[in-house]
Amino acid sequence: MTLLKVKNLEKQFGGLKAISDLSFSVPENIIFSIIGPNGAGKTTLFNLLTSIYKPSTGSIFFKDKEITGLPPFKIARLGMSRTFQNLQVFLNMSTIENVMVGCHLRSKAGLLASAIRLPSVIREEKEVRRMAEEALHFCGLSEYKDRPAAGLPYGLLKKLEVARSLASRPKLLLMDEPAAGLNDTETRELCQLIKRICESGITVLLVEHNMTLVMEISQRVLVLNYGRLLAEGPPEQIQKNPDVIAAYLGE
Ligand SMILES: Nc1ncnc2c1ncn2[C@@H]1O[C@H](COP(=O)(O)OP(=O)(O)O)[C@@H](O)[C@H]1O
Ligand SMILES: [Mg+2]
Repeated sequence: MTLLKVKNLEKQFGGLKAISDLSFSVPENIIFSIIGPNGAGKTTLFNLLTSIYKPSTGSIFFKDKEITGLPPFKIARLGMSRTFQNLQVFLNMSTIENVMVGCHLRSKAGLLASAIRLPSVIREEKEVRRMAEEALHFCGLSEYKDRPAAGLPYGLLKKLEVARSLASRPKLLLMDEPAAGLNDTETRELCQLIKRICESGITVLLVEHNMTLVMEISQRVLVLNYGRLLAEGPPEQIQKNPDVIAAYLGE
């Protein structure tokens, strides 16, 4: 089944078309990577999918529902979650608190109910904590859960961000250059984590510069160049594509 469908998407910033007439579909339960030179429009595409930006034209369908222009929190509630190119961790909070922030988007309690601490609110808080613990466990961070995030090394902070994005139990996870700044060991661990995320039933949309990682774990790869689709297909085919080699891989 198709989980995400993008049709004739465009985003213009003044005179610059950051995304031009882009159409593609992402089937369920695969790792789908988006590659392309710096400035190709990868992060812009993520910002369009999550409704941080409104498209100039075109439409986006998620789980067969048109989501173009919906507010970001509604898209998150439908089951789309993301990690950011620049680390977005609250350094003044503990590890588990950082992850609990990710679950609160599912929270139903109103302000008044929370203020007078209704039993339903207390139950919900316990549930949120449980979901956060589960996500931390999945990412191998259980032993750090009560430590201040500020004390964690960079590699673990990146995993923490992944844990937070998983805590809301998304159907689709968007990861923007998760391996940036990681050493070889950390990159290998991340690779395993992304594979396990996919195996757990979450479709992964991955933007990544590390070609070894991309070619190893993706079932499909889309190449963006100046905001346009240059090629799309299985990794073996992309690696051989002369247009891709000329524009990108040959660099
Ligand atoms: N908010 C913005 N305002 C103006 N230009 C932008 C904005 N965001 C991105 N761009 C431009 O759009 C192009 C694509 O950027 P980006 O999506 O960040 O590329 P990538 O993530 O592939 O490196 C670049 O030329 C960038 O300068
Ligand atoms: Mg980017």
